[in-house]
Amino acid sequence: MKILVTGGLGFIGSHTAVELQNEGFEVVLVDNLSNSSIDVLDGIEAITHKRPIFEEFDLREKQKVESFFQKHGDIAGVIHFAASKAVGESVEKPLLYYENNIGVLVYMLQELKKKQSANFIFSSSCTVYGQADQMPITETAPVKPAESPYGNTKQVGEEIIKDSCKANSQLKAIALRYFNPVGAHPSGKIGELPIGVPQNLVPFITQTGIGLREQLSVFGDDYPTEDGTCIRDYIHVVDLAKAHVAALQRLLKNKNDGNYEVFNLGTGKGSSVLEVIHSFERVSGQKLNYKIVDRRPGDITQAYADTKKANEVLGWKAESTLDDAMKSAWEWEKIVRS
Ligand code: UD1
Repeated sequence: MKILVTGGLGFIGSHTAVELQNEGFEVVLVDNLSNSSIDVLDGIEAITHKRPIFEEFDLREKQKVESFFQKHGDIAGVIHFAASKAVGESVEKPLLYYENNIGVLVYMLQELKKKQSANFIFSSSCTVYGQADQMPITETAPVKPAESPYGNTKQVGEEIIKDSCKANSQLKAIALRYFNPVGAHPSGKIGELPIGVPQNLVPFITQTGIGLREQLSVFGDDYPTEDGTCIRDYIHVVDLAKAHVAALQRLLKNKNDGNYEVFNLGTGKGSSVLEVIHSFERVSGQKLNYKIVDRRPGDITQAYADTKKANEVLGWKAESTLDDAMKSAWEWEKIVRS
């Protein structure tokens, strides 16, 4: 069965391509290489012994999207990762974010509408919950006003898909709300490749550990948490990738309950910034140079998932611990810099 993975050379897309190939799917990757490298294709091949089909183009080019679907009429499912994801940049360039994340989503759904039956998996984010009132966060927690254009594209994206599913009964979709994806493939062949200074915690930690950055700034230790630093739910990217395969299988086997569903993807365990640093120190055997600085505007105190729905309905559970994830991220950093 042929599956399209957009943004397939990116961090989560590449790990999902591996898991799909491991399960016997034929994978077609589309990527414009704007935030990824063509070498990732070799990494996927090295792990799975199979080179996915790859087409390089920008999904903002509507005609190319149309020709792609004409050429690959037998696509049974789409996992749509292609999007921009930097919160700060989205504040500076909102229209770029709406074009990339919303415009492209509309083109994809327009193509899927032409098919007799279509299965669509969407990369959403726990950012839709804002600072939720209750922990852990269930899928029924209210969606809070977005703090950034990036966050808004995830909320609006979900609404667009929900409306499309309502209007077109041949379209089935699942939105996956990721908590904080981290780590790398245990083979050391693929992982996260941030361009420039990393905005996210774990790549900043590993780059500091390797000496590329001098010091990690911990954004605030005066939050109302046990050690004063923010709490997040860090999920190993391989676990996350496997959840995409589970979600896709659910749609392909018509096991879905209604043609639009939402699932949280996390471990269910919250970890503070200091706990993540200590985990890194444990697995790397070295001290990390960090200092406490002011809070980062827009950060929420805590977010961790209630995983019951994903565990019971998708039959999927995150297996890796924070230490496993940090160890794989560290191994990857060493390989990339060697
Ligand atoms: C961020 C985005 C979120 C997006 C996600 C995608 C913000 C406010 N949120 O989530 O919308 O879906 O990335 O990957 O940008 N931290 C430090 N020092 C650092 C970097 C981070 O102390 O140099 C802390 C942060 O304050 C936070 C935690 O580490 O408490 C995790 O930060 P990060 O990795 O950026 O993820 P989120 O902010 O949760």
